[in-house]
Amino acid sequence: MGQELQRNKLLEEKHNLAELGGGQQRIDRQHAAGRKTARERINDLFDPGTFVEIDKFVTHTATDFGMDKNKILGDGVVAGYGKIDGRIMYVFAQDFTVFGGSLSRANANKIIKVMDMAMKMGAPVIGLNDSGGARIQEGVESLAGYADIFYRNVRSSGVIPQISAVLGPCAGGAVYSPAITDFILMVKKTSYMFVTGPDVIKTVTNEEVTKEDLGGAMTHNKKSGVAHFTAENDEEAMLMIRELMSFLPSNNMEDPPRKVCTDDLTREIPRLDTIVPEDPNKPYDMKEIILDVIDNGHFLEVQPHYAQNIIVGFARIAGKPIGIVANQPAVLAGVLDIASSTKAARFVRFCDAFNIPLITFEDVPGFLPGTTQEFGGIIKHGAKLLYAFAEATVPKITLITRKAYGGAYDVMSSKHIGADYNFAYPTAEIAVMGPDGAVNIIYRNKIKDDDHKKQIVQEYRNNFASPYKAAELGYIDEIIYPHNTRKKLIQALEMTENKADSNPPKKHGNIPL
Ligand code: HXC
Repeated sequence: MGQELQRNKLLEEKHNLAELGGGQQRIDRQHAAGRKTARERINDLFDPGTFVEIDKFVTHTATDFGMDKNKILGDGVVAGYGKIDGRIMYVFAQDFTVFGGSLSRANANKIIKVMDMAMKMGAPVIGLNDSGGARIQEGVESLAGYADIFYRNVRSSGVIPQISAVLGPCAGGAVYSPAITDFILMVKKTSYMFVTGPDVIKTVTNEEVTKEDLGGAMTHNKKSGVAHFTAENDEEAMLMIRELMSFLPSNNMEDPPRKVCTDDLTREIPRLDTIVPEDPNKPYDMKEIILDVIDNGHFLEVQPHYAQNIIVGFARIAGKPIGIVANQPAVLAGVLDIASSTKAARFVRFCDAFNIPLITFEDVPGFLPGTTQEFGGIIKHGAKLLYAFAEATVPKITLITRKAYGGAYDVMSSKHIGADYNFAYPTAEIAVMGPDGAVNIIYRNKIKDDDHKKQIVQEYRNNFASPYKAAELGYIDEIIYPHNTRKKLIQALEMTENKADSNPPKKHGNIPL
C-alpha cells in the first residue's frame, strides 16, 4: 500500500471510530430510549451537508479510575458549525453514548472553543444537551469546565442568540448553562431538568416525586416556566430550532432576516370590526386578532403553556420579523400577575437585545389583586415588565383593543414609557379603573339604588372608559377601524423602520430581580 493510501486509511479509521462514539450497543440503547444520537440530531438540525466538525479526535486527559485506558475520540461531545437556511450557526451536541455525555475538561474545552468562535464571528450557538452532568472521574476539572461555559454564556448574552435543547438528562449545576441561554426547548417524555434529583429530594425533604413530574418537559413548560418550547421527539425539536432561528438575527448588530411577503399588504379584515364583544366583561380570544393581522397567520408562540393570560411570540408583518406581546382576555381576563409579567419581560428584553420590533396588543383589566400575589412580590415582578418596555429601544407599537386600566395601562408599552405609535380601537376603555370599581369609590354612600348606579356607571363609561380622552391628550396617536389593523401596523412599522434610540451610557441598569 502506498504511503498516501496508508495515511488516508488511518484518517478514515479515526473518522469511523469517532463516529461510532460509545459503540453500536450504546447507540442501540439510545435509540431504544426514543432518543437520537448527537450526530443524527445535528444532521436533522442543519441544511444537508453543511456541518463541519471541529475537534473530532480530542480525547480526555484523565488518568484516575483507569481512565487512561478508556479513551474515546471526541470525548462525548460533537462540536462544530453548519448552516440553517444558509446562515452559519455553531453547535455542540453532547453524546450520551460516551461516558453518558458527561462533561470532562477536554469536552468542556471543545464547547468553549465553539462558543468563543461564535462570539468572534457573530453567529448563534445551539447547545444540544444530553448528559449525566459533571464527569465524575474528573472532579473539580469538570466543575471548572462548567463554570467556563457559564461565564461565556453570560458574556455572550445579548450579543449572539443562544439556544438550548434539552434532549435527555440535564441535572445538577448543568441546568444553569441552559438557564442562562435565551430559549430552552424540551422533548416530551425523554428529557428532564432539575438541580437535585428525586433521590436527593427524598432524603432531604422526604418528598416522593418522579423524574417526569419533577423536571419533565411539561413541568418546565407549564408549571415552572423554565422552558419555552415542547417537542414530541428529537426530530421535531430540530425543526423547531430551525423555525425559531428564522426569526432571529445572527447577532445584536444585525437586523432579523426578512422574508419575501406573500400576504396582501393592504388586506382588510372585516371580522375584526365585531371581534371585541359589546359586553366588556365577555372574553374573546386575542390570538384570533394576532393570527388575522400577521403574514399568512404564521405565529411561533413562545411559552404557549405557561402564564396563558399573556401571549408572546414571533411573527412577520410585511416580511419583517416582529415580537408580539398580547394580553389574553380569554384567560383570567388577561390580568397581569407575577408569572405573566416575568414571562413577557424576558421576551421584551430578548427582542430589544436582537433588534426585533415589538407590537403590543392590549386588553388588560389591571394587576391581579390578592395576598398570594402581594406576598409573592407582584410589585417587583410587575416592575420587570414596566422596566423592560421602558428600556427597550426597538420600534414599539401598541394597539389597545379594549381595557387599558390603571398601572397596567402605563406598563403595557404606553406612550409615556417610550412607545413610538399607539393605536386604539373605538372599543378601547382607557381609565384608572373599570366603571364599577370607579363609581363605588367616587359615589361611596351616595348611590341611591340600582337604577342610579346603572346611570352613573354609564356616565362614567361615556366620559372616561373610551379612547377619546386619551386621544384628546395625544396619548393615543390614532383611533382606527379594526378592519384596517393590518394596514395600520404595516404603516407604523415602516414609519419606525429607521428608528435610532439608545439608553444613557451606563454599566448596566438595575432591573428589579
Ligand atoms: C461519568 C457517567 C456519568 C457521569 C453517566 N455516566 N453519568 N460517567 N460521569 N456523571 C455513564 C455511566 O457510567 C454509563 O456508562 C453511561 O454514562 C450511561 O449511564 P447509565 O446510568 O447507564 O444511563 P441511564 O440509566 O440512562 O441513567 C442516566 C443518568 C445516570 C440518570 C444520567 O447515569 C446518572 O444519574 N448519572 C449521574 C448523574 C450525576 O449525579 N451527575 C453529577 C451531577 S452534579 P457505561 O460505560 O455503563 O455506558 C453536576 C455538577 C455540575 O453535574 C456542577 C456545575 C456547576
